[in-house]
Amino acid sequence: MALLKSDPCRRHTLATRRSNQTHIVEPKKFFIETFGCQMNLHDSEKVAGTLTQMGYVPTDDPSEADLVLLNTCNIREKANQKVFSRLGSLQKSYGTKPGAKVGLLGCMAQMEGVKIFERAPNVDLVVGSSSYSFIPELVEKLEQGSRHVIDVTQDSDRLFETYADSRGNPYKAFVTIMEGCNRFCSFCVVPYTRGRERSRPGDRVLSEIRRLASEGYPEVMLLGQTVNSWRDPAGIIPSFAGLLRQTAAVPGIRRVRFTSPHPSDFHPEIVEVMETTPQVCNQVHLPVQSGSTEVLRRMKRDYTREEYLRRVEFIQSSPCDIALSTDVIVGFPGETQEDFEETLSLLQRVGYDQIFSFKYSARPGTEAFALGDTVPEEEKGRRLAVLQEFQRKIQTQRNEQLVGRELEILVDGKSQKNASELMGRTTQNKIVNFPGSPELLGKFVRVRVSRAFPNSLAGELI
Ligand code: 5AD
Ligand code: SF4
Repeated sequence: MALLKSDPCRRHTLATRRSNQTHIVEPKKFFIETFGCQMNLHDSEKVAGTLTQMGYVPTDDPSEADLVLLNTCNIREKANQKVFSRLGSLQKSYGTKPGAKVGLLGCMAQMEGVKIFERAPNVDLVVGSSSYSFIPELVEKLEQGSRHVIDVTQDSDRLFETYADSRGNPYKAFVTIMEGCNRFCSFCVVPYTRGRERSRPGDRVLSEIRRLASEGYPEVMLLGQTVNSWRDPAGIIPSFAGLLRQTAAVPGIRRVRFTSPHPSDFHPEIVEVMETTPQVCNQVHLPVQSGSTEVLRRMKRDYTREEYLRRVEFIQSSPCDIALSTDVIVGFPGETQEDFEETLSLLQRVGYDQIFSFKYSARPGTEAFALGDTVPEEEKGRRLAVLQEFQRKIQTQRNEQLVGRELEILVDGKSQKNASELMGRTTQNKIVNFPGSPELLGKFVRVRVSRAFPNSLAGELI
């Protein structure tokens, strides 16, 4: 990841004095590249923070790194393949520093374990997605010359340790509130890679948020695989909605987001919090996966199309104008053209502001693997293209409704469309690009929306 904030003091060469001589010791460098979801991005921040505390400094150039780390994802087969091809390209095209070590972290590391050393013997370190608190010991072993160092422990009382900070964005901070998942959707590897659901104690979540607020972060994003299934292990904060309320009450916190809630645990109380607590953003990412009740049953999603739509109804009936986004899989085993059309009709009915859509990927070890992979690859590709085009129109229409409106945004970076512009996000998580000077970074400003695109808005400062 390119954007790791580090302690600038650590960037300097360390000098140590022994007897009368001064030995200049170059600090060791680490490079870390992240695949996959926001939990992985945040895990990389935790690892970067830990390594920085150990005296390593970050680098964007893998060829000068002493420790090259890939934080892996294996939710789909393609994500898996990408990691091995990246490993190959890193070793070929850059050629790592003499003596440099290579490590795989994350979900693929967790799932494959020691098998990684057989497939890629050059890999020195494997750390599963629940073992980052062991990084100091593991890296020390590497430094002492051990080869094939591994930790894939899933349950340790150090799981929710507070990590030294090294965050990718100076205005928005991720906060882990739970790990793992108990739902075992039939297509999904997460309960195996991330383990069973474990909630982080509420007081520890809140003390991290207080610290972030005191460091000047105005926005926090609460993270968990099924974030709304969070229960305070100490029994003090009564519910996830209660945690949202208490997070919003931390002085200095102006925005709270969360991802991803599971529809079955999505209760009206969460919408009530949005209505009564302005800091809690008007945005819900509610993964549906399919619009067909029959496919949902085989996916083991625990809800029918109608039950999902009932949740959408109470979200959309709120006066807060809550933006909705979702995840969709096309080509699940046995998905017929009619099933697929039900997904399209659900998209039409809900009018999502954004979707993330994927071709089904059969994953060994999951329940659906036994169902085969019955929808041909070409047909999955066709359905995905139809779905994305269908949604593009919905999104454009949704965004066009905002033209002429005045919206508040948190300015959080340079525009990706035009380097001379800035970008910010609205409470609904809409991206607004606008001309403005860099001193607005990190500020809340008001803009008037001038144009709409499928994935962003253009605006002018008011
Ligand atoms: N194939 C395709 N997509 C998948 N996802 C999870 N597992 C698979 C799979 N086997 C998608 C789901 C999930 C998102 C993070 O990834 O839509 O919500
Ligand atoms: Fe995977 Fe289902 Fe858990 Fe989401 S709820 S992480 S899709 S098993």
